[in-house]
Amino acid sequence: MTMEEYYGAALPSLQEAIGRLLEIIGQYPASGRGTEEPSGEVLYVRSRLKSPESLMAKLKKHGLPLDCASALRQMHDIVEIRVVCSFVEDVYRICRWISDRPELSVCQIKDYIAYPKPNGYRSCHMIVSLTDGPGSGIQAEIQIRTIALDFWAALEHQLKYKHSIPHEELIRSELKRCADEIASIDLSMQTIRELLKEPF
Ligand code: GTP
Ligand code: MG
Repeated sequence: MTMEEYYGAALPSLQEAIGRLLEIIGQYPASGRGTEEPSGEVLYVRSRLKSPESLMAKLKKHGLPLDCASALRQMHDIVEIRVVCSFVEDVYRICRWISDRPELSVCQIKDYIAYPKPNGYRSCHMIVSLTDGPGSGIQAEIQIRTIALDFWAALEHQLKYKHSIPHEELIRSELKRCADEIASIDLSMQTIRELLKEPF
C-alpha cells in the first residue's frame, strides 16, 4: 500500500509537520550560545514517515483498528526524526534545547542512555508535538543519539528483518558487547574533549 493510499488527506499535514520539525532542529546553534565553547554540533538529521506496513503491524500488535484515523489517534511515532551528534553530553544538550522550544510541546522523554535496553540500545527518545500552525497536534518521535551508537543501531536493526538467524545467540551477545564498548568509548571521547578544552 502506498503512503497516499494509507494516509490519504492526512499526508500533507504529516509532511508539513516533518518539514517544520526539520526547520526547528536546523536552528540548533552550531556553537555554544554566545560562548567560545563548542556546543557539539548536530552531525546529521534523518526523517521518515512510518510505512503503512509497519504501522499496521504495530496497530495489530496492540489490538487496535488498522485504519489511518486510528493510527493518528493512537500512535506517537508515525513521524520519526533522528538527530545524530558526536558526544553523549551533546545528546542531552540537544534534548534540553528541544524541550525549551516554544513551538514544541514535549509529551514524553525516554532516556535509553541512562537506562539502556537489554540488547544494549542507547538513545534519548522524545515524543513531541507542534503547538500551533500547520501540522500542529501531530505527534512525532525524535531520537537523539551519538554517531557511534547510530552506526550500531543500523546494524542491529537488520536483525528485525531476518526470520531465521544463524548463530543468533552469538550475534546478539556480540552486538550487546559492541554496544557496551561503544558506550565506554563515547565516554572516553568526551573526557578527551574536556581535556582538550583546558588551557595549556
Ligand atoms: P516501537 O519500538 O516502534 O514499537 O515503539 P515503542 O513505543 O516501543 O518505542 P521505543 O522507544 O521502544 O522505540 C521507538 C523506535 O526507536 C523504534 O521504532 C526504533 O526506530 C528505535 N529503537 C528502539 N529500540 C531499538 C533497538 O533495540 N534497536 C534499534 N536498532 N532501534 C531501536
Ligand atoms: Mg519498542
